[in-house]
Formats: sequence, structure tokens, C-alpha cells
Amino acid sequence: MSLSKKIALTTANLTKSFGTLIAVDNVSFTIEEGSIVGVLGPNGAGKTTMIRLITGIFELESTSQVKINSSDLTHSPKLLKKEFGIVPEVSNAFLDFSVWQNLTFAGTIYGLSKAQIKEKAQELLKRFDLENKIHDKTKTLSEGLKQRLNVCLALLHNPSIIILDEPMSGLDPFSVDIVRNQILELKREGKTILLTTHNMQEAQKVCDRVLIMNKGKIIADQSPEDLLKKIKPYTNLSFKINTLLSQEQNNELKSIFQFIELKNDQVNIVSSNPLRDIKKFNDFVEKYDLSVSNFKLIESTLEEVFIHLIKNDTLGGVGNETH
Ligand SMILES: Nc1ncnc2c1ncn2[C@@H]1O[C@H](COP(=O)(O)OP(=O)(O)OP(=O)(O)O)[C@@H](O)[C@H]1O
Ligand SMILES: [Mg+2]
Repeated sequence: MSLSKKIALTTANLTKSFGTLIAVDNVSFTIEEGSIVGVLGPNGAGKTTMIRLITGIFELESTSQVKINSSDLTHSPKLLKKEFGIVPEVSNAFLDFSVWQNLTFAGTIYGLSKAQIKEKAQELLKRFDLENKIHDKTKTLSEGLKQRLNVCLALLHNPSIIILDEPMSGLDPFSVDIVRNQILELKREGKTILLTTHNMQEAQKVCDRVLIMNKGKIIADQSPEDLLKKIKPYTNLSFKINTLLSQEQNNELKSIFQFIELKNDQVNIVSSNPLRDIKKFNDFVEKYDLSVSNFKLIESTLEEVFIHLIKNDTLGGVGNETH
């Protein structure tokens, strides 16, 4: 079925360094027309920097490439900015403008006529339930309302590819619902969508494909269902040790458990076999006659397990662990 689909966005060898830090490290991927791709990754993974490269905000290296449909726009940053509908990480709406003034201004920048702006802006305000805020100054809007305006601003010129950098962050469930439904509606209209998020469950609800980014690299590219299958069997075990551990004891714990985090007196173990690992931990505690409190077993806390696994660069191996 995917064979017949057109590729809407092609990126190749995207790279960006800040001094010695390689924020985006030779990233390449394609997105099929009409699909939603989510980029998931911890803070600092390089998601926003990658988006800034794709959308012409950062200059591309000579070896990089960005194509929309089959047009190579690598050397046309102005066109890239226009071709996409962009919801940036930091809003570029003018805070002293009213909602309507921001829409009118953005429409003018995109070269729309007054009549076109009016028609499209009214449609978007309705879709994003902002009609009663039309004359309000943007700075008086709550974060969620502002974010809904940001999405309207990105859609004004009817772009075929929409890129949203954490569109759901800071939104209440009502706004999440509106934005999520509108993202799905855009897909039904045939738009191609790239979004970033930290939220695995959110990605599962809207994305056809998920790219996992860590330390500037795409470390996994799969359907949300396949990703969840890898993550779900994990449980978080957390303990408080009431004695300061020696360096040797720390090292011993790290050699016993594949996924362990030690912070002061707090021990977190991500486990695919909680009974086995509780027993192992108990053996360790008895061996050194330690006292332990605040034991918690948290079933499938997807976010924590997910972030833990990608931070440890172990996602590729998850699910292959032998017992
Ligand atoms: N303008 C800049 N100057 C220097 N370093 C930068 C700049 N922008 C980003 N970085 C660094 O590049 C890395 C990637 O940052 P980026 O903002 O792309 O991450 P992110 O995945 O979007 O994170 P978050 O989830 O927090 O939004 C980080 O280490 C960040 O500190
Ligand atoms: Mg970011």
C-alpha cells in the first residue's frame, strides 16, 4: 500500500554543530504524502534544531538536502520558510497584536489578499474555537489559547506540509483535544505532518510513524504500535537506601542491573522482570546489611521507561534481553 504513496518530504544528511556540540548528526528520512510522523526524544536531542534546518531557519551544509515533493529546495531558504506551515517551539506571534491582527499580518507576509485572509482566518478561528477571542490582545491569551493561535498562523497559507514543534506542550485536555483532532483532520485533507513531542501516548494517538531522536541521531524509525510493544513490558522499581553507598557498591549495582539509575540515596531500576530484580536487589541489600525504604513499583510508566531507555541508547536492544 505504501508503494503507491508519493514522498512529500525528503531530508538527507542534515547536520548542525554548535561549537564542538553536534546537535544534529547526519540525519536523513523521508515522509510519505498524507502521513503523520512524530519525532520523539529527550530534551536536547536535537529535534528543534533539525526542524530549523528543514524549514530554512538554519543554513544547510553543502552535503545536506531538503526536497519538497520532487523539488530540491536546499538552496532556497526563503521558499522553505513559505512552503511549510510551521508551529515553532517559541511562538512568533506579536504579543501586542490582537488575534485578528496577527492573522492579518501573517497573511500579508504570505502574500494573501485581504479577502483570502478574511475567509481563511474565519475558518481557522472556528476550527480552533477562538472566535470569541478575535479582538483580544495575544498577550492576554492563556498558553493553550496562544498555542491554538500559533497553529492557525501556520495554516493560513494552506501549506501542504505542516511542521509542529511540541504542539501539545502546556495545553489542557480540552485544547489537546482540539489540536489533536485538527491534526487528524489535516491528515484527512491529505496534508503531510511532522511533529515533535515527548509524549509517547500522544504520538501513539496521531502518528503513523515515530522517529526516535537521541544525541542528534535518529535511533529508531517505526510504527507507534511496534515501539510500544518494545516498551510496555517494563516496570519501574524505585527504592530509597538509607545509607550512603560506596563507589564499589555503586559499581556492583550497575553490574547487576542492565537499566539502573543511582541518584544520592535513590535507586531506580527499569525492569522487564520485576520479581527477579526485586529478589536480586534484596540479595544485595542483605549482603551489605543495608536498610531500604520507600519501595515503589510503578507499572508501565511509559514516559519514564521510554526516556530512560533512549538516554541509555538501548532502545534498539529492548525486548531482546535474555532472562
Ligand atoms: N542556538 C544554539 N546555540 C548553541 N547550542 C544550541 C543552540 N540551539 C540548540 N543548541 C543545543 O543543541 C542541542 C539540541 O537542542 P534542541 O533545541 O534541538 O533540542 P530538542 O530536542 O528540541 O530539545 P527539547 O525537547 O528540550 O525542546 C542542545 O544541546 C542545545 O543546548
Ligand atoms: Mg525543542
